[in-house]
Amino acid sequence: MSSVVEVTQDGSVRVLSIDNPPVNGLGAAVRSALAEELTKALQDEGVEAIVLAGKGKFFCAGADIREFGKEPPPDTPHLPDVIDALEASTKPVVAAIQGVAAGGGLELALGCHGRVATADARVGLPEVTLGIIPGAGGTQRLPRLIGVAAALDIIVAGKLVPAPKAEKLGYVDQVVTNNANVIDAAKDYARAIVAGDKPFRRASEGTVEAEATVFDDVKTRIAKKARGFEAPYAAIDAVRASVELPIKEGFAREREIFVGLVDSVQAQAQRHVFFAERAIAKIPDVPKDTPAKEIRRVGVVGCGTMGGGIAMSFVNAGFPVSVLESNEEYLDRGLEKIRGLYASSVSKGRLSQEDMDQRMGRLQGTLEASELADADLVVEAVFEEMDVKKDIFRRLDEICKDDTILATNTSTLDVNEIANATKRPELVIGTHFFSPANIMKLMENVRGEKTSKETIATIMKLSKQLGKVGVLVGVCDGFVGNRMLYAYRQQADFLLEEGALPRQVDKALFDFGLPMGPFAMMDLAGLDIGWAIRKRQAPTRPKELRYSPIPDRICEMGRFGQKTGAGWYRYEEGSRTPVPDPEIEALVVEVSKELGFERREISDEEIVERCMFPLINEGAKILEEGIALRPGDIDIVWIYGYGFPRYRGGPMFYADTVGIDKIHETMVRLYKEQGEWMKPAPLLTQLAKEGKSFKDYAS
Ligand code: 3HC
Ligand code: NAI
Repeated sequence: MSSVVEVTQDGSVRVLSIDNPPVNGLGAAVRSALAEELTKALQDEGVEAIVLAGKGKFFCAGADIREFGKEPPPDTPHLPDVIDALEASTKPVVAAIQGVAAGGGLELALGCHGRVATADARVGLPEVTLGIIPGAGGTQRLPRLIGVAAALDIIVAGKLVPAPKAEKLGYVDQVVTNNANVIDAAKDYARAIVAGDKPFRRASEGTVEAEATVFDDVKTRIAKKARGFEAPYAAIDAVRASVELPIKEGFAREREIFVGLVDSVQAQAQRHVFFAERAIAKIPDVPKDTPAKEIRRVGVVGCGTMGGGIAMSFVNAGFPVSVLESNEEYLDRGLEKIRGLYASSVSKGRLSQEDMDQRMGRLQGTLEASELADADLVVEAVFEEMDVKKDIFRRLDEICKDDTILATNTSTLDVNEIANATKRPELVIGTHFFSPANIMKLMENVRGEKTSKETIATIMKLSKQLGKVGVLVGVCDGFVGNRMLYAYRQQADFLLEEGALPRQVDKALFDFGLPMGPFAMMDLAGLDIGWAIRKRQAPTRPKELRYSPIPDRICEMGRFGQKTGAGWYRYEEGSRTPVPDPEIEALVVEVSKELGFERREISDEEIVERCMFPLINEGAKILEEGIALRPGDIDIVWIYGYGFPRYRGGPMFYADTVGIDKIHETMVRLYKEQGEWMKPAPLLTQLAKEGKSFKDYAS
């Protein structure tokens, strides 16, 4: 018996169970054990049929992703060869699927002659989410089983499909209830094949046809979501081969595309994101077994833009929520807005009326702070003013039970100062949601100097319960995301002074892969808040710092962005599409002149570098100050909070692909031109000097 494949026998049925925790990944040892055990079973006259199963929670999560991109390349046998041998078996092989059959795991099952799954199992080919395509026959067998259009849906979306749906589509043959023993059911299925009661079917046999337009239709459908990604388009090409080529050539074409992608920068970036998404939960001094408090009731203070969205996030996840407002009018307005958002989801068919009623039923508005007394957690989302926040925290400290966690949604204020206004600073933490809070997945969970490990463990777990991505960060102005954003935004303004126009800057950064450029983003968020902050800071702003007057000039014109129909762009009535405005372009040119800039041609490449490199430099400072735990944590903040393209891996991963020395060189130049705040981060200088990367720093 091999240690990674457990072998048992029931009558004439041999059961091979992959035993490779945590997810039964198909590393070299598993592949070779499977091949070996298959040969033995075929040679054994006492075996009439084989069941392929997985031990533990999952059938199999596919190839061992850690093997990709490694030198030397993985040992033989390769997965496609193992699967081909399985399919060629003269004795029927049936997959017994529980939990998940993903990627190579499903491809293994597709090589079997029957597939039995539990009702809660999920089966799919998520390879495109890793920047690759299924590389072990999935793109050739699945279309032959369920048709090209359905196969394209599954492969191009990369989503795991519930087993009952897969049964309907035809790539799972039988679904058993969750309590039933799926291995027993698979044995019965295998015996039925032996008896001739079920077909002995090989998925690679036969041909498949498709309407000529089906491939272009999918490309059109995914154009917006898949912008910039290589893998979904490569997957479409591979599926096309299932129609156009005989099976062997189809397999070869799939393999060729797979091999061409697996070491690509995009695939490396998406693998990095896969592991970074899992690493954020690992906090060195807050071990996994740190007890988390159970959160049953939640209070939210403030039902404005953020408070309303935060309340919805909790309600959506099943928590009863009391929202406290300062007066009836604001409370009614806030609750009405929430009701309106749910009603709109109902009218679009995204939510049932019953679900909406249940959600609204979990939400209670109040003007009495005492109603929050029993909450296990209160999240404050009132105006961004220290005195107001401190006042509220003092009151909450008095009213709430002793162990209530008090969280602030502040985006810029000092969480330590807020915590110290209470007698329970260990129970105070920042939960920085992003707008709109009911939609955006990122939560920067801000650890104060006295925040307890239990509070951190509770909030990190809570982020998951809310379906969010929680990243632990430290206290500083703007935390991780907005602090880096500031550096980026500032350069965008300077580029205007030097010769660019808003539409050109925005286009360059949109083409880089961001959902929108900085100026369109400001118009969306509103320009007035930043203006108010700048006016407050004006008396203390060091005179030697370069400062662009353009944003203030635009606000002085009463242009606050989309909400006033004009900002950096114009907006037609009822439209959110930015229209370049000659008035603003003239203003930009005029300011250049006033400041004595000789306007020059600025390339898209320069725009990207000027905006991205200072942002990365700030990220390096954040790392060395310990505000973020790992470069990957910063990447996750940018991917989930700002739509940084996943295929670039986040700004810190992107920095490694550009080369730290190049970024450092640019920062040295900007430092000379713009002064102190563009100073290269010591970490950046050190990495550049040592020829290292952020990846080296992380490991
Ligand atoms: N290879 C290597 N490690 C893997 C892995 C894989 N395929 N899948 C999961 N892991 C690791 C995770 O990194 C994590 O490690 P950690 O504990 O050290 O952080 C551990 O297994 C548990 O994973 P999760 O935290 O994700 O556990 P969940 O229970 O939340 O989710 C899962 C389980 C749904 C299976 C999820 O892990 C998953 O989606 N895995 C990836 C599936 C996938 O993309 N498969 C395709 C691989 S590529 C392929 O097969 C190519 C083929 O076509 C040739
Ligand atoms: P907002 O002005 O839309 O809402 C604030 C609400 O708090 C108002 O409805 C107000 O009536 C209420 N309020 C004020 N004092 C109160 C009190 N004593 N008791 C109860 N309610 C009170 O502000 P917004 O945008 O929701 O911001 C809230 C917080 O979230 C701020 O700290 C802000 O910095 C932060 N934030 C804002 C983001 C945004 O994009 N708007 C993003 C992330 C964080």
